[in-house]
Amino acid sequence: MMACETNKRLFVMLLLFLVANCMQHSVHGVPQVPCLFIFGDSLSDSGNNNDLQTAAKSNYEPYGVDFPTGVTGRFTNGRTEIDIISQFLGFEKFIPPFANTSGADILKGVNYASGGAGIRVETGSHWGDVISLELQLKHHMATVSQIASRLGSRDLAQQYLEKCLYYVNIGSNDYMDNYFVPEFYPSSSIYSPEQYAQVLIEELSQNLLALHDVGARKYVLAGLGLLGCTLGEIYSYGTNGSCVEEINAASTIFNNDLKALVDQLNNKFSANSKFIFIDTALKALQLGNTDDFKVSNAGCCPWGTLGQCIPDQKPCYNRKDYVFFDGVHPTEAWNLLNAITAYNSTSDPATAYPTDILHLVNSEIKEELEFANESRFTT
Ligand SMILES: *[C@@H]1O[C@H](CO)[C@@H](O)[C@H](O)[C@H]1NC(C)=O
Ligand SMILES: *[C@@H]1O[C@H](CO)[C@@H](O)[C@H](O)[C@H]1NC(C)=O
Ligand SMILES: *[C@@H]1O[C@H](CO)[C@@H](O)[C@H](O)[C@H]1NC(C)=O
Ligand SMILES: *[C@@H]1O[C@H](CO)[C@@H](O)[C@H](O)[C@H]1NC(C)=O
Repeated sequence: MMACETNKRLFVMLLLFLVANCMQHSVHGVPQVPCLFIFGDSLSDSGNNNDLQTAAKSNYEPYGVDFPTGVTGRFTNGRTEIDIISQFLGFEKFIPPFANTSGADILKGVNYASGGAGIRVETGSHWGDVISLELQLKHHMATVSQIASRLGSRDLAQQYLEKCLYYVNIGSNDYMDNYFVPEFYPSSSIYSPEQYAQVLIEELSQNLLALHDVGARKYVLAGLGLLGCTLGEIYSYGTNGSCVEEINAASTIFNNDLKALVDQLNNKFSANSKFIFIDTALKALQLGNTDDFKVSNAGCCPWGTLGQCIPDQKPCYNRKDYVFFDGVHPTEAWNLLNAITAYNSTSDPATAYPTDILHLVNSEIKEELEFANESRFTT
């Protein structure tokens, strides 16, 4: 009996030790979540568009100039925001793009993001082929089937997938490559900005529920940045350097509705499903008021009418000083600050609602301990 008690105590201590280690950036190479699935657009794409027939691709220099393996199809000089978050979470390798996944890789997660993509299926289609959110979800269903056959059953796959983190950063192109491009898309003549945001949120919500059906329980929903302040929009609206207020106003409505959706979904589901909202626009406003970035009115690479770097032109040298790498996409330096906000907002809780990724993923550890308490230690 004594020995049994001692063993129990030792076991609990071992468990606590393991948990404590997991929280410290996974010193033993165990990530804080076993898997990460990524849905989105060029802010997260890591090569899914490389073989598509589209102008929305970036698998050429100077993209990737600061990335360990150079050009990959990322729309920035180095790591994307979710690349950096995945490192904070303790993943040793970047999550592979769906277009290039193989074998057991998929158990750690898949990146479905596609440059030009939106929530609406037609968004970004004037660039060429695009993998819309709906299609990204179809790709995820294929992954789920593969995981089920690897693990031996649908149920085991479901249990496994419930432990993963789901990052969704999409919607920018529904404005920049749809609503505010009336020459290609009729949406602005059909919907007011309020109606359009509602339509987007409704469609996004359907997709999040479909993800829930196949095991998603922990979601990170990134809000839109200050879309009207991108160089490409300032240039095409000819506002002489000022942000395009009309675009910022429309994307703010979307962000407010997305935050409300997070409340709604957190209320709808029991405590084992959690949704968080990252206020990227608020962060951009805060960063805009600091001196961290010396250059916010020019891109680091020479960029063309599409907003993307002109191939093989030299980028700037002082890339840490720039907000924008090209005419639309932020530099790794900017991505880093956004990644810190999303992951750990301890010092700035307003930007991650109702909590940050650190607390979202560690909440599971507490639940598992409680579970261990109930079922494993009653003898
Ligand atoms: C695909 O994966 C292989 C092996 O991991 C890697 O060498 C290659 O660079 C990847 N290609 C792309 C386009 O990501
Ligand atoms: C554009 O902005 C610059 C600098 O802010 C200012 O000097 C110039 O007068 C502005 N031009 C117009 C047409 O408003
Ligand atoms: C989170 O940020 C706070 C303050 O910025 C810092 O003290 C803390 O160590 C960070 N925690 C982790 C796990 O990164
Ligand atoms: C485990 O159970 C004990 C006794 O019921 C309780 O004091 C402790 O807080 C529980 N631990 C967790 C992590 O729930």
